Amino acid sequence: MERYQLKEEIWWVGAIDWNVRDFHGYETPRGTTYNAYLITDEKKVLVDGVRSGFGPELLRRVRACCEPREIDYLVVNHVEMDHSGAIPSLMKQLGDVQIFCSRRAKDALLLLYHGEGVQDWDITVVGTGDELSIGRYTLTFLEVPMLHWPDSMLTYVKEPKVLLSNDGFGQHLASSRRFADEVGLDLALDEAAKYYANILMPFGNQVQKLVKQVGELGLEFDVIAPSHGVIWRRSEDVARVIEAYVGWSRFEAPARVALVFDTMWQSTEKMTRAIEDGIAQEGVECSVFRLNHSALADVARAVLGHRAFVVGSPTLNNGMLPTVGAFLTYIRGLRPKNRLVGAYGSYGWGGGAAKLISAGLEELGLDVMDPLELKYVPTEDDLEACVDYGREVARRVKAWGR
Ligand code: FEO
Repeated sequence: MERYQLKEEIWWVGAIDWNVRDFHGYETPRGTTYNAYLITDEKKVLVDGVRSGFGPELLRRVRACCEPREIDYLVVNHVEMDHSGAIPSLMKQLGDVQIFCSRRAKDALLLLYHGEGVQDWDITVVGTGDELSIGRYTLTFLEVPMLHWPDSMLTYVKEPKVLLSNDGFGQHLASSRRFADEVGLDLALDEAAKYYANILMPFGNQVQKLVKQVGELGLEFDVIAPSHGVIWRRSEDVARVIEAYVGWSRFEAPARVALVFDTMWQSTEKMTRAIEDGIAQEGVECSVFRLNHSALADVARAVLGHRAFVVGSPTLNNGMLPTVGAFLTYIRGLRPKNRLVGAYGSYGWGGGAAKLISAGLEELGLDVMDPLELKYVPTEDDLEACVDYGREVARRVKAWGR
């Protein structure tokens, strides 16, 4: 089988999932990979597993480097089932392997795989700063609780400066290529942004804490190898993705606006076009997402990449359209910060959608503009009010953060 080398004696032995299109609610039109790494030092170490069903592919890749029974250690950086699902079946092939993971990972493994032999596994708990010599290389462990599960951990291979970063720096991107420079940096960074927005956005503080910790420990990275998507191996790519993570964790974004809406009889759509026009009149870039035509994962990516988002819905049964409600629920979980937001929509007899959206956005602690509601089909004057609303959004976006 084709072998993919990161550094001397460090190999990618993961699996490619060309078919997955829904990753717990995150649409993945490009599929994904479940990356595992094999280090063939004096001790042979497998770092991370793969999703259930992909174990045979991992084993075939391992066999291109060594026999699975020669593996001494298995490092479990993270127990979510896309990485641990195949471990019970792999354990039957690996022989007397010693597992290293965080305390919380051990607790979770016992709860996840009871009935699958977990009680017989030889598990050693490690924590931040613990080191494991495997021959010429040394592994250093770094716990990153809630980045993005309580058990999450990173493994740093000290001498070749390789960070096995698990979910951090990943992308849901299936490819026959293994490295960011092979698929193109723009694509890799764009998918990394989408991944960050949908998986890591709520954990900006933890990202900043990790960056600080890395600085204090004096760690340098030649290669960052995540558990999904392509690997960052060129120094300029490593620097770019770290810089991007720092910016995203601070909710930095260009001065542009996303309009996120749905419509019933096109009145709210007309309002959207007029607001868009007002934003353009102020020279500010605007993206528009109609929710019943857009993947929520893409809209979340837009929330990360725009300094403002304004949400539109007509009033339906005294509330908002279900697609808009679903968006608000999703975004509430992602906990965006430092965003200017607004709400608008048309109504027939009793309004309410825009006010409800506004109230939902207030709960997130965002900078909320007064909502704009119009009755039935907007008149020319109403549309002028929408243009003015768009101009006001744009002016505030431009002024913000100066
Ligand atoms: Fe890729 Fe949190 O699992």
